[in-house]
Amino acid sequence: MAIATAHAKVILAGEHAVVYGHPAVAMPVCSLSCEVGIVDSPDGLTSFVADAYPGRFLAGAHEEHPLSFLEDLLGWLFRDELPRWGVELAGPPPLSISVRSEIPIGAGMGSSAAILVAATRALFGHYGITPPASEIQRLAHAAEMGVHGRSSGLDVAAAVHSAPVLFTTGEPAVSLSIGAPFDLLVARSGVQSLTRKVVLDVLERRKREPALIDGLFTQMGGIARNLGEAIADGNLSGMGRLMNRNQELLADLGVSSLDLDRLVAAAQEAGALGAKLTGAGRGGCIVALAEPVLVATIREALREAGAVEVHEYHVDPQVVAGNVARDPVMRVGGCSGQPRPQRVE
Ligand code: PMV
Repeated sequence: MAIATAHAKVILAGEHAVVYGHPAVAMPVCSLSCEVGIVDSPDGLTSFVADAYPGRFLAGAHEEHPLSFLEDLLGWLFRDELPRWGVELAGPPPLSISVRSEIPIGAGMGSSAAILVAATRALFGHYGITPPASEIQRLAHAAEMGVHGRSSGLDVAAAVHSAPVLFTTGEPAVSLSIGAPFDLLVARSGVQSLTRKVVLDVLERRKREPALIDGLFTQMGGIARNLGEAIADGNLSGMGRLMNRNQELLADLGVSSLDLDRLVAAAQEAGALGAKLTGAGRGGCIVALAEPVLVATIREALREAGAVEVHEYHVDPQVVAGNVARDPVMRVGGCSGQPRPQRVE
């Protein structure tokens, strides 16, 4: 048996623009994670269970089930990838796969990317293999393309790093150093964010208005670069201004919503240094940057403005420091070191 984990993320700048080659900044949220367990099946059938969905789903069943993306992932890994690591089997063996996740689904917090990362780690761990994080990232990103249609790889990069990353598709993610501690509040609107649909809508709009949309993306990419510098300098007010500006551009892009606008405004009015939607938008979450003394006030304001859940996250350079900048290509897979799959014999 093997069990592996991966964590959530929030995007601090550059979502959507990152799909078109611009940089973005994502922050791992190590306090929210998912866990995938893989064990040889006791009854000869491959099946999936998850705490988010009632029932047991059988592989190869006629109906598409909510975990069929994992079925596709495992089938592909068995066929094309595991043989390269010396695991040669006549066919996929029967397995029982279980998923437990604290990461809200459809909230722009990278739940599907985290599950893909954890499942990839767990399957390799089942055969006693621990591939480097860069390989896990490559495989999970390829699988994510199947889930979202078009994916920058940002979510997967954040799920395998413990420090904030400046990410551009096709380039190694750069771990950012953190100049000063800061607090983030992530407030969930309660409306689902359908990443695939929103990304496709943006694609359609870009076909109709290429100059306008590419202009927005260029500005968002510049914001992401500047935000990376502001995080490294510990310039909290600069970070906040950049997040606010990014939110205005996301609204111009058409991916905000009345619910998200209300939460952003509530955070800003309660004293947040900056606030913006995070992820694909039209639902999901907003993220607000706060000075420690104002966290409780902002939390209250977000609740009054209709947030169904508020998650607080203290980002401390002391905690992340050991993981930053020693290896700009790839850092640890989890927030307290590489979460190696645990083998339970
Ligand atoms: O909604 P999420 O957490 O899946 O984030 C999507 C981020 C996008 O930039 C909109 C898409 C992508 O592939 O980067």
